[in-house]
Amino acid sequence: VTFSDDNSRVIAELPTGERVEVLLYGATVISWKDASGDEKLWLSEAAKLDGSKAVRGGIPLVFPVFGSVPDHLKTKDLPQHGFARTSRWEFLGKSTSESLEGETTNDPSVKLDFGLSSGAPGLDPKAAAHWPYKFNLIYSVTLNRESLTTNILATNDDSQSFECHVLLHTYLRVNDITAVSVTGLGGAQYVDKVDSAKTKTQPTEGPLTITGETDRVYTPAENTVTVSEGSTEKYRVTRDKFSNVVVWNPWIDKAEGLADFAPKDGYRQMLCIEPGTVDSWQTVEAGDALAGAQTISLVG
Ligand code: BG6
Repeated sequence: VTFSDDNSRVIAELPTGERVEVLLYGATVISWKDASGDEKLWLSEAAKLDGSKAVRGGIPLVFPVFGSVPDHLKTKDLPQHGFARTSRWEFLGKSTSESLEGETTNDPSVKLDFGLSSGAPGLDPKAAAHWPYKFNLIYSVTLNRESLTTNILATNDDSQSFECHVLLHTYLRVNDITAVSVTGLGGAQYVDKVDSAKTKTQPTEGPLTITGETDRVYTPAENTVTVSEGSTEKYRVTRDKFSNVVVWNPWIDKAEGLADFAPKDGYRQMLCIEPGTVDSWQTVEAGDALAGAQTISLVG
């Protein structure tokens, strides 16, 4: 585990060469490479990594509100997707599978822990003013040879309950979006955020292909979504304690309108598969905690 020279990020590498890079701003995973150096996440060439704006790409963390919900009193004044992705997190430390003697096991792994709590100096000032609760977030990023797991634990340290959404806004890298198909959504209901006329739940049939702007909140029965390119399975995204998966691709016009989205045809190389719980408010009672995780496994 190393730090960048400017202390802005934590980099962990397995003895076998796999590598992950996490920006302290947002605890945003901005790069995940396999042993051959092949990048698995999409990161915009125009993404701001200096803490001036949420990162366009990688794995931004959405908490405590998904999108913006104008009629929800406690979150309506927060930035879109909340403040977790716009706060500077603290690096809490690492644990590895290596023995104390330093011998490597056959299955090396490294876990990086990050924390953000009410009152922390890195907290987005907009949050401090608009989220009146005492809370503690622990975010763990575990790199294995064939997978990446990210796990969020949100603890309510207040004397009253709060309501929240949680989501892992993962930008998966693909070679060609027109060859991509997504399974594991079959039969699931979804809310279509693109076509507001259809913002009722729609049933899904068969694998999903992406042929235009896509922004859907699914509630699948299965807990694994598989992303394939052509006939090759590429990623398996397994959810733990999350009921939704958002599938997002901005396509041509929307990408054009996003200042930090580059190159403009980059929508062809990405697909957001976002595990979370966002279709209803999760109530976290005083002293209680809420947990959820995703594991992205490499296949094919
Ligand atoms: C997705 C939402 O999760 O995030 C979309 O469903 C939204 O509606 C997208 O456009 C990107 O959001 P942002 O705030 O990062 O531009």
